[in-house]
Amino acid sequence: MLFADRPSLVLAPMEGVTDAPMRALMGATGCFTHCVSEFVRVSDRVVPAKVFLRDVPELAEGARTPTGLPVQVQILGGDPERLAATALVAVECGALGVDLNFGCPAPTVNRHDGGATLLKHPTRIREIVRAVREAVPGGVPVSAKLRLGWDDIAAIDENAAMAVEGGADWLTVHARTRTQGYAPPVYWEPIGQLRRLGVPVVANGDIWTLDDFRRCQDVTGCRHFMIGRGALADPALPYRVARELGLREGPVPETDWPCLLTRFLAWTDRYFPPSPGFRLKRVKQWLCLAHRHGDFDRFDQVKRAGTVEEALFALGGDGGPAPVPL
Ligand SMILES: Cc1cc2nc3c(=O)[nH]c(=O)nc-3n(C[C@H](O)[C@H](O)[C@H](O)COP(=O)(O)O)c2cc1C
Repeated sequence: MLFADRPSLVLAPMEGVTDAPMRALMGATGCFTHCVSEFVRVSDRVVPAKVFLRDVPELAEGARTPTGLPVQVQILGGDPERLAATALVAVECGALGVDLNFGCPAPTVNRHDGGATLLKHPTRIREIVRAVREAVPGGVPVSAKLRLGWDDIAAIDENAAMAVEGGADWLTVHARTRTQGYAPPVYWEPIGQLRRLGVPVVANGDIWTLDDFRRCQDVTGCRHFMIGRGALADPALPYRVARELGLREGPVPETDWPCLLTRFLAWTDRYFPPSPGFRLKRVKQWLCLAHRHGDFDRFDQVKRAGTVEEALFALGGDGGPAPVPL
């Protein structure tokens, strides 16, 4: 799934955004080496298999998207035993790897002892990673995804060391604290220093352009990168980065929004019950991100669309039937 001696480009987990249809679409680019599911929350009970199979439907298909991208399952919670038992359920459902979320900043999640809250308790991070590591078979990697700290970027040193002591096979670090939310700046420097811990480190946060990627690579010295919003804001970005990392050759395709969205909708129809409202919401969600963070400049027209067909028409598409997904 992730190999220390080869570069990686990982599609970030984004709840409500990088769901199965989006993972399938992004998998078709051939740019990513794996992706991580949206978090599955472990609260007062061990999560049953049916939840994994519903939320990460790729598990029933070899834990790969139909376009061939391996999917790692992410779980979130604060209780080592329940997380360990849940990780085992995920593996029994077909998970090829388990990622532990120590970065979610959502207040409801944090109030219930999950996500970034654990950054205030480094030894608990170690206990959670250890319990999950011991529960799942040795061949199944267990990784940890962290922010730099709750409110202090220096906290990453101890938190990351604890995750490694617990047995994490690799670390992914979003270069911000919990109190920052998604506000600038990102602090890439401390990420590079974690490489001394002896496990691969995946650098994450605010890679919007090829230039950002190059700076992140220079500053961190990392070979592994995770991209989330940037991959949606500029769909050409993963191609540029993958080419730079030697993961993919060939030209960078022009972004054809009507075509991309039509394919995305075809994948959406494969995974979700028919709902014109949901389809339109997803199209607007994506284009809003591209408008805010990329150079998509027609969001004003799309915003007013009452149907997907109107939205595609506003983009110059013909609103015709969706093609069979690639
Ligand atoms: C809408 C949204 C949902 C997210 N959901 C998750 C999640 O389920 N699990 C997780 O570890 N990180 C989640 N993240 C954080 C991203 O994985 C990533 O760390 C963050 O967006 C920074 O990377 P980027 O600048 O490349 O987007 C989410 C981020 C966003 C914007």
